[in-house]
Amino acid sequence: MDISKIDWRPKLPQKKDFGIGIIGCGGIVQYAHLPAYRKAGFNVVACYDINKEAAEALATQWNIPNVYTSLDELLADPAVEIIDIAVQPWHQLGIVEKAAAAQKHMLCQKPLSDEFTNAVKIVELAKKAGVKQAINHQMRWDAGIAAAKEMITQGWIGQPTDAQIQVGCETPWQMWPWLSSSPRLEVLFHSIHYLDSLRFLFGDPAWVTSRHTKYPQQGEVKAETKTVTVLDYADGLQVLVSVNHYDIHGETFAIFKFIGTEGAIEGTIGLMYDYPAGRPDTLEFRQKGKEPISLPLDEMWIPDAFVGPMAGLMHAIETDGIPPTNTEDNLNTLRVVNAAYLSAQENRSVRPSEIQG
Ligand SMILES: NC(=O)c1ccc[n+]([C@@H]2O[C@H](COP(=O)([O-])OP(=O)(O)OC[C@H]3O[C@@H](n4cnc5c(N)ncnc54)[C@H](O)[C@@H]3O)[C@@H](O)[C@H]2O)c1
Repeated sequence: MDISKIDWRPKLPQKKDFGIGIIGCGGIVQYAHLPAYRKAGFNVVACYDINKEAAEALATQWNIPNVYTSLDELLADPAVEIIDIAVQPWHQLGIVEKAAAAQKHMLCQKPLSDEFTNAVKIVELAKKAGVKQAINHQMRWDAGIAAAKEMITQGWIGQPTDAQIQVGCETPWQMWPWLSSSPRLEVLFHSIHYLDSLRFLFGDPAWVTSRHTKYPQQGEVKAETKTVTVLDYADGLQVLVSVNHYDIHGETFAIFKFIGTEGAIEGTIGLMYDYPAGRPDTLEFRQKGKEPISLPLDEMWIPDAFVGPMAGLMHAIETDGIPPTNTEDNLNTLRVVNAAYLSAQENRSVRPSEIQG
């Protein structure tokens, strides 16, 4: 077992110059998508935002050659081969309808939709149009998670028995003013990353049990900001996701722990220590009676992991394959998310298969 041989870096496609058209030129595109694409050598050819100034500012900052003033104009540009959507989830379906009609491949932002039925429609539109459609669940390429995936697949921990992601932080909600009024918050917009990554590592759970609460002084933020979700697997694996966005007195902590019959992987999620600047993840492998072994990780969730979903989509286009974060599979992440809300609402455990479009 040589930990230095664990390969956790994103794999780039052969062809890196697919023309990318950005739809929605807000925060996440500025500080995550575009720094990652520049680093990977991807080719952003156009952008569009309902707020013209936002699109113009982005184009100036990142040397994007074409700024369009309508979605139709951008979709009519033959140089645009992939649409990179980064708008609020309730706007995503309308954009996908037009992009599918224009036969463009798509990278959608998470969550695919705030309504499960609309997420199903988004997937069906791409299938009917015969275009590739992926979702930006980039935590799968976050160094600690990508390395853990390699190690679990290679059998380092044996049979997984217990997985935990626990986060206590003070979240800068002011970065997303549109989230304050959302009737669903923590699981749909934040824990969704952990739930998707846990599906990536361990597959689909049999049962979801979730409890949600609020902080007494969370002001105009309307929905849940502290949640505990338990996933039970058919083989006995039990998963805990526990997140508190108002852990305001102590120091931030953001840990993952994947325990199995042969060993355990333990680490920290660097991004959460100072969002969005963050720090690199840490990862240690532990076995009973042995010294822990560390794997040095030098890349960050933001922006480095944002290379992964786009690279995976490009690889699927060039090989006519399935993107690693294809949206049809993502419906199962959304089933877990929606099962968590149903569980909290009805005070019971829910099977993800109960969630149907
Ligand atoms: N993957 C991640 O880790 C991650 C992190 C943060 C945000 N997000 C997601 O990214 C999306 C955008 O978040 P943000 O923080 O950048 O928000 P933002 O408000 O900063 O940016 C959104 C932009 O989309 C534009 N827009 C809205 N509707 C549009 C439409 N119909 N057509 C064109 N442009 C439109 C807005 O004018 C705005 O400029 C959200 O869905 C959010 O959940 C994902």
